[in-house]
Amino acid sequence: MKIKVNKNFENIKETYLFSEIASRVKKYQQENPDKKIIRMGIGDVTLPLPKIVVDALRGASAEMGVKETFRGYPPEYGYDFLKDAINAHYARIGVDVPSESIFVSDGAKSDLGNIVDILGDNEIIIPDPVYPVYVDSNLMSGRKITLVEGNIDNGFLPLPDQIDHEVEGAVIYLCSPNNPTGAVYSYEGLKAWVDYALKTGSMIIYDSAYEAFVVEDVPHTIYEIEGADQCAIEICSFSKFAGFTGVRCGWTVVPSKLSSDGFDLAKLWKRRQATKFNGVSYPVQRAAEMALSEEGRKACSENISYYKNNASMLARLLEQKKIRFTGGVNSPYIWLQCPNGMGSWEFFDLLLNEAQIVGTPGEGFGKSGEGFFRLTAFGTNEATKEAVERLDKLL
Ligand code: MLT
Repeated sequence: MKIKVNKNFENIKETYLFSEIASRVKKYQQENPDKKIIRMGIGDVTLPLPKIVVDALRGASAEMGVKETFRGYPPEYGYDFLKDAINAHYARIGVDVPSESIFVSDGAKSDLGNIVDILGDNEIIIPDPVYPVYVDSNLMSGRKITLVEGNIDNGFLPLPDQIDHEVEGAVIYLCSPNNPTGAVYSYEGLKAWVDYALKTGSMIIYDSAYEAFVVEDVPHTIYEIEGADQCAIEICSFSKFAGFTGVRCGWTVVPSKLSSDGFDLAKLWKRRQATKFNGVSYPVQRAAEMALSEEGRKACSENISYYKNNASMLARLLEQKKIRFTGGVNSPYIWLQCPNGMGSWEFFDLLLNEAQIVGTPGEGFGKSGEGFFRLTAFGTNEATKEAVERLDKLL
């Protein structure tokens, strides 16, 4: 063929982080078929969906099989019943996010990857380490990225005063509670970013996928910060909150006040979605609506407590071993410093070979993640207990 391809793909790693881990683990399992591997790598949930959510999924599926209640294409931006439920979710936090600013999708990852479609060639500012989708999707589009270092000294919560050059009109990615470090911005920290965005004419893309894990007095949404509705898009997900990793549903908020260069960003996102996306299926949206109901939230928060119990088991062990870590309190992730100055892939190999535990090497989340390692608390209580015993022997 003589076609041109997108050569920006040369600038990203050949394999996506979690695909790379999966293929290494598969190889190990093939070579060691008798070994029982405990998977604490990708942040995938293990508890089944709450019964009430499954009932909603089943009920809505049954409606699709009846002439009178069958539905074809869903509305491009989500059914009103789900947008209203999301609006009520924000109201419980104390912020007003109008239903017209809410766009239902098949998950946060898709929206985080797709949002670049409506943005021009801006400087991109991304704290490092971070969820790899922000960096990869911008590199694929040929954007220039400034990384802001997270480290032990700043508690993996970099602030704008670390940026050493004049910024105008940048796009800033923030994730809080953070993937991978589990660190959470305080109100002051998040305000510093919002003020910075307003001052420099920048926009924040705020990933709040882990919001449901927040227990301390820290922001659940960026819209708790004054002025954020003039400079921030928020992207959230049902994956971690309601166990929807295999069901697929999320949402993006594009406030009506976001405009730049004479363009209204919500209009651009609508146009983008209407062209490239056909919406989320009716049964999934009914299930998501149920997850946000009073009973649904109760069931989902029981599952979150179950995972938090895993996080506490891991945290206790690390404290005993005097290994430094962040996360585990407002987050399902524990981010630890690899012992004895080990590199993060080196520690990955050690855990896999000697304890048959799979985690995620910090370096996979950016160069500031080198020397660190992420363990997820999304496993079963039994598997986590066994992992703690194995780690206790090994470390
Ligand atoms: C992770 O392990 O970082 C997440 O599960 C990835 C994701 O949410 O796509």
